[in-house]
Amino acid sequence: MTTPFTPRHWSSRFAFLMAAVGSAVGLGNVWRFPYLAGENGGGAFILIYAATTLAIALPILISEIMLGRMGKQSPINAMKTLVRENKAARIWLLIGWGGIIGAFIVLSYYSVIGGWALKYIELALTGAFAGDTEAAAAEHFASFVSDAGSLVIWQTIFLALTILIVAAGVTGGIERAVVMLMPLLFILLAAMAVYATTMPGFGEAMLFMFAFDFSEVTPDTVLAAIGQGFFSVSIALGAMMTYGAYLDEDVSIGQSAVFIAVLDTVVALLAGIAIFPLVFSYGLEPSSGPGLTFITLPIAFGTIGGGVLIGGAFFVLLSVAAVTSAISLLEPIVAWVEEGTNIARKWLAIFIGVLAWVAGLGTVFSFNLWAEFHPMARFGVMEKMTLFDVLDFTTANLIMPIVGLMIALFAGWVLTGPQVAEALHAGDKPWFRLWRFALRYIAPFGVVSIFVANVLM
Ligand code: PHE
Repeated sequence: MTTPFTPRHWSSRFAFLMAAVGSAVGLGNVWRFPYLAGENGGGAFILIYAATTLAIALPILISEIMLGRMGKQSPINAMKTLVRENKAARIWLLIGWGGIIGAFIVLSYYSVIGGWALKYIELALTGAFAGDTEAAAAEHFASFVSDAGSLVIWQTIFLALTILIVAAGVTGGIERAVVMLMPLLFILLAAMAVYATTMPGFGEAMLFMFAFDFSEVTPDTVLAAIGQGFFSVSIALGAMMTYGAYLDEDVSIGQSAVFIAVLDTVVALLAGIAIFPLVFSYGLEPSSGPGLTFITLPIAFGTIGGGVLIGGAFFVLLSVAAVTSAISLLEPIVAWVEEGTNIARKWLAIFIGVLAWVAGLGTVFSFNLWAEFHPMARFGVMEKMTLFDVLDFTTANLIMPIVGLMIALFAGWVLTGPQVAEALHAGDKPWFRLWRFALRYIAPFGVVSIFVANVLM
């Protein structure tokens, strides 16, 4: 079969790994992980997070990349092929559809938050945080998000960057961007973490992150950790499946997935190591929630020597992390439409990007014009949530667990042992047996429990 579109194929294993790590490392690591750890008591949360990521998220990550490489197309079409070849029930097509719909929704709100990160580069570099008190920083943030026009501008810039990269193609765009941006991100992060070791609050921060106090662990802590693991390694939204579809047969998926998950966790930890010493050195609150990055840190940046540069570097890092994740959300959708039309990728990237932009307005308005609008209230569920909260909640707590569960079941129970052993070139190695056990038993049990607990609570 000839492909009607530009070739979609990683030119090296390194390119694939950088793209996949770029997808995994995102707002989830630098913004969400530290504040969740802060809210959930630090060390114990981090330990549970590491354990559940290893036992649940990693096996699903391996499966998702594998399904992509077996189906060799975008998630929807890859699943069509796999369902047909295996004479499986059509319900499994939901893995593709759920992933694509989820990716679109996440892209729509991710671009808005990514826009904040870009805006904060400007604020940091122009010295806007100088002398900020807690109240002043909170006021800065509140006045920024209450201005819909300004949020739209930064959302637009963020999406335009994302579209530009995806429009240029897999090798010409995504690959070129990630092999440049990911090393930059690691350098910035390592520099910030090293700098943090010189801060007076470093010791306290380490105790906070690595002292395991299980007295504060509740079922909620475990659920938050599992959910964060899913989001953070980018499973269940078709991103990894799509990247797997572009992967050469001779690259080891098991090794790659371990590399991706380990690096993702290391980045989250380094982000914590960079952030918490600042927080403790200035006597700020580690458990200040989503505002940790946009309110608490600016106070520190406004006070320390060289804060303009350090703050600027931090928000560049956050923006880079966000863009390389956003491209992995746009790519699966573009790839899917590309497979069904003759329209050039460039136009598809723009068209789908604009749709995500329009959908993203709902998130923009959730912070201002529609701040009092609670879309689900009349149904008696998610009553206090804004539209943004509803989108975030339904993707992270409904779509992602369901699609993740289906991936585990499909790869673990529908595909046969010999079939997956061949797809992974695993023979009968011990890690393969361990993986299959985790996939068939531990992951479904874990996911069903997040799910049940979330529905019940
Ligand atoms: N892993 C990304 C983050 O941590 C988010 C993401 C999820 C990206 C799923 C793509 C697919 O921010």
